[in-house]
Amino acid sequence: MAFNRIVVGLQWGDEGKAKVVDVLASEAEIVVRFQGGANAGHTVVIGDIKYVFHLVPTGLLYPHKLGVIGGGMVVDLPGLLEEAQALESNGPAILNRLFISERTHLIMKYHKLWDEYEDERKGIGTTKRGIGPAYTDKIARKGIRAIDFCYPNHFRTLVTAHLQEKNELFTRIYGKPAVALKDVLEPYESIRNLLAPRITNTAVLLEKFQKEGKSILFEGAQGSLLDIDWGTYPFVTSSNSTVCGIPGSIGLGLRMIDEVIGVTKAYTTRVGNGPFPTELFGELADLIRGTGHNIGDEFGATTGRPRRCGWLDLVALKHSIRMNGVNKLAITKLDVLDKLPEIKVCVKYLYKDKELEHFPAADYILSECKPVYRTYPGWQCPTRGLTNQKDLPPGARNYINMIIEELGVPVQMVSTGPCRQDQLTFS
Ligand code: IMP
Repeated sequence: MAFNRIVVGLQWGDEGKAKVVDVLASEAEIVVRFQGGANAGHTVVIGDIKYVFHLVPTGLLYPHKLGVIGGGMVVDLPGLLEEAQALESNGPAILNRLFISERTHLIMKYHKLWDEYEDERKGIGTTKRGIGPAYTDKIARKGIRAIDFCYPNHFRTLVTAHLQEKNELFTRIYGKPAVALKDVLEPYESIRNLLAPRITNTAVLLEKFQKEGKSILFEGAQGSLLDIDWGTYPFVTSSNSTVCGIPGSIGLGLRMIDEVIGVTKAYTTRVGNGPFPTELFGELADLIRGTGHNIGDEFGATTGRPRRCGWLDLVALKHSIRMNGVNKLAITKLDVLDKLPEIKVCVKYLYKDKELEHFPAADYILSECKPVYRTYPGWQCPTRGLTNQKDLPPGARNYINMIIEELGVPVQMVSTGPCRQDQLTFS
């Protein structure tokens, strides 16, 4: 019988969702990405090979799974093809198992430039992948969609009109050079034969799969605290990176969802700017971050930026669990805490002498919140690579049990290292 799951990040992205998706994809037939775009960097390590996914659904490393790019995504088609081909050079064929919604909005060259120019002014610290500008055009009813790419004359007319407008913006407002039409269109001409056949009505396709009893795994990108509505606005991404992003993207109701798995690290990280109450600095932060020379060190998979690191924040996690309706947890990177003599956990915030138990809506309030910590003894022995719950040191087990008790959600999986097999079932 079909069993449909959602995997979402509960923090500011980079929770290790790809690892969880990779494990759970073995139990599904279809993996669906539903929001965001190539701002995501999902890493899976199998043996000596590290695979990084930006647009392709992670489960497609398994040779017989199907992948869907939902209509709520924003996609750079030439980038998608390049990514699929790079994955194919190290693994199974990808493209013939990938379906792109005809409603997906396209990220054009001018969106990436616009992202760069706008971020110079606003300082959100975006990934410069053109995400915000493509969603801006979508909402302003000026977007170009995958369906348009399948009709070359129509595509050219739309791009020509939109580029004219963007060039006015670039030259007049940002003082930047205009972009040539040829530079925008050319990359699309050579890829039409390969990609147009992959563009389809994915809602009908998913409905058919459902009727056949096939299980779907929904792969969230970014994290709940980056959600456009519920995150640390305006320091967020431009999509609903929570379960809220699913119905709008896939064109099916939510009746078929059986399980929502929220993924959290055993601590917290963030890339880009914006408030982060439990952020650490100095030696402790460096210890958690690593040097960048090892797989799993805290450096962005998309941009290579060092991630900001801090203690686990239960106030933020409760907010994320509520908005997603999480009913199972996956805890990742437990092993990163192995050497610490003590571990802190934020249980509430102090804002101008007032105790806050709920995550505030404004970034200027959150940035003034001081974390109130509870301290736990570290376990100071290796958990890396453990695959059996009974081998966990008592301190680590206590830490996980504390998280379960505080959040009121059972933990299903604990990840103990970067490789596929480094994980254990917790009960
Ligand atoms: P954008 O999504 O590129 O517009 O970036 C907006 C904010 O979200 C920035 O702070 C980015 O660093 C952050 N962000 C976007 N995608 C990811 C991700 O996959 N992981 C972590 N942070 C992300």
